[in-house]
Amino acid sequence: MTSEALQKARAFEAQYGPHIPSGERPAFHLTPTIGWMNDPNGFSLYKGEYHLFYQYHPYSNEWGPMHWGHVKSRDLIRWERLPAALAPDCGYDAAGCFSGGAVEMPDGRQMLMYTGVQRGRDADGFIRDIQTQCIAIGDGVDYGKCELNPVLTGEDLPEGGSAVDFRDPKVWREEDGTYYAVIGNRAADGSGAILLYSSGDGRKWSFVRTLDACHNQYGKMWECPDFFPLDGKQVLLTSPQEMQPVGLEFHAGNGTVCLIGEYNPAGKRFVRQFVQAIDYGLDFYAPQTLLTKDGRRVMIAWMQNWATVGAKPYHCRWFGQMSVPRELSVKDGRLYQIPVRELESYRGPCVMHHNIPVSGEVNLPGVQGRMLDMTVTVRPIGKDSYRWFRIRVAKDGEHETIIRYRPDQGTVKIDRTRSGLPHDIVHTRSFFVRPRDGEIKLRLVLDRFSLEVFVNDGEQAASAVIYTRQEADAISFEAGGSVLMDVEKYDLVFDEEA
Ligand code: FRU
Repeated sequence: MTSEALQKARAFEAQYGPHIPSGERPAFHLTPTIGWMNDPNGFSLYKGEYHLFYQYHPYSNEWGPMHWGHVKSRDLIRWERLPAALAPDCGYDAAGCFSGGAVEMPDGRQMLMYTGVQRGRDADGFIRDIQTQCIAIGDGVDYGKCELNPVLTGEDLPEGGSAVDFRDPKVWREEDGTYYAVIGNRAADGSGAILLYSSGDGRKWSFVRTLDACHNQYGKMWECPDFFPLDGKQVLLTSPQEMQPVGLEFHAGNGTVCLIGEYNPAGKRFVRQFVQAIDYGLDFYAPQTLLTKDGRRVMIAWMQNWATVGAKPYHCRWFGQMSVPRELSVKDGRLYQIPVRELESYRGPCVMHHNIPVSGEVNLPGVQGRMLDMTVTVRPIGKDSYRWFRIRVAKDGEHETIIRYRPDQGTVKIDRTRSGLPHDIVHTRSFFVRPRDGEIKLRLVLDRFSLEVFVNDGEQAASAVIYTRQEADAISFEAGGSVLMDVEKYDLVFDEEA
């Protein structure tokens, strides 16, 4: 039975979603059908198709009682819109259906596991969340909430764990048929922990162990975990709140952290070895992964920063977009990410320029546009031949977004100060890249409202939202000193409905 709240959301999105012309949305970054979107949820393969749900408030461009929006895809790039999957329509999720995961069940149904939020009063009479974990089971379109909900509550927490911050289950099923879920929690020391739970049938769950904990080192509450083996290592992703800056690795506020280590599946023990940021740009949070049909680990994230959700175009009818899905790998203890290879089938003809000398500013024939995939490789001409190199995109007389490399510092900086956003927010971010004798490879994926940069075949990634007017489509290259540069540029071409 579809509840009244879900019927209302479905009717609303069906009525108003189609009013948004496709030219006012990104061409290939997912946006909500209408209204507000945050975290990706339930990113998974179901009956041979990729499903993606998202934190959704259809009725305004602001966060509100969370629903789950829903889309599916055959290639992770073009998404078909489906009706909203969940609405906050039960006592235990009356204040929202928060983030969670999805998994295909052996009987062919799809199970969603999400955080149900209700409000209660704490000992001081303050209104607080009570967060529990809930199940909904369905056929890929309609989902029924489980009569046992909530299936995990504050009673199931390890000692000292907080029921106010107990959220974002990411669920999977192992070969022996057992379901597992990793869930974020605030531990007794006030900072985050990632808890592992298991279940034989997906309905009755029990605590296994704490996989890793923050101990007040990387932010406070750890949100939106994911946990998977990759290239002989085990990876734990989480999105901490209230980070403190650490060099150029972590910035203050909501961040993303990748913990790489060893895992003993029998004992369920994770031993952390390496820690890094996931994305070094301005807009990236709450990533989630799936395993593709051909065994690739692919990650997608909310391409937005919580601190800047007020910085949006006046009266926009959608807000929030997903990153391009990224193929992950681990090499030498580092996470690498590159856009999914499916993106390449949307490339138009190649514009190639080889060994172009750059000193001062250069424009190249055929190199402009706002929906493109472009790789720029820069080489010094002899030792110390340049102090900096920069690419300016989304450019006209007034606007530009800059990607700058400084070989002496080994840093890349993205700068959207002049992208047209009329908001007093952070517009620049710098990060370290691995020095390679002055050589650098920058792959830029541009869409109407964003820029994603992949450095040196995915050693670092940096994402930023830009709302620059679409007419600003010039691109230029500039060096302080002199370099040789190769440019390989493809327009990304989509059949878009008007
Ligand atoms: C992360 C988050 C999650 C929560 C959701 C609510 O962005 O705070 O922890 O489930 O957003 O919308």
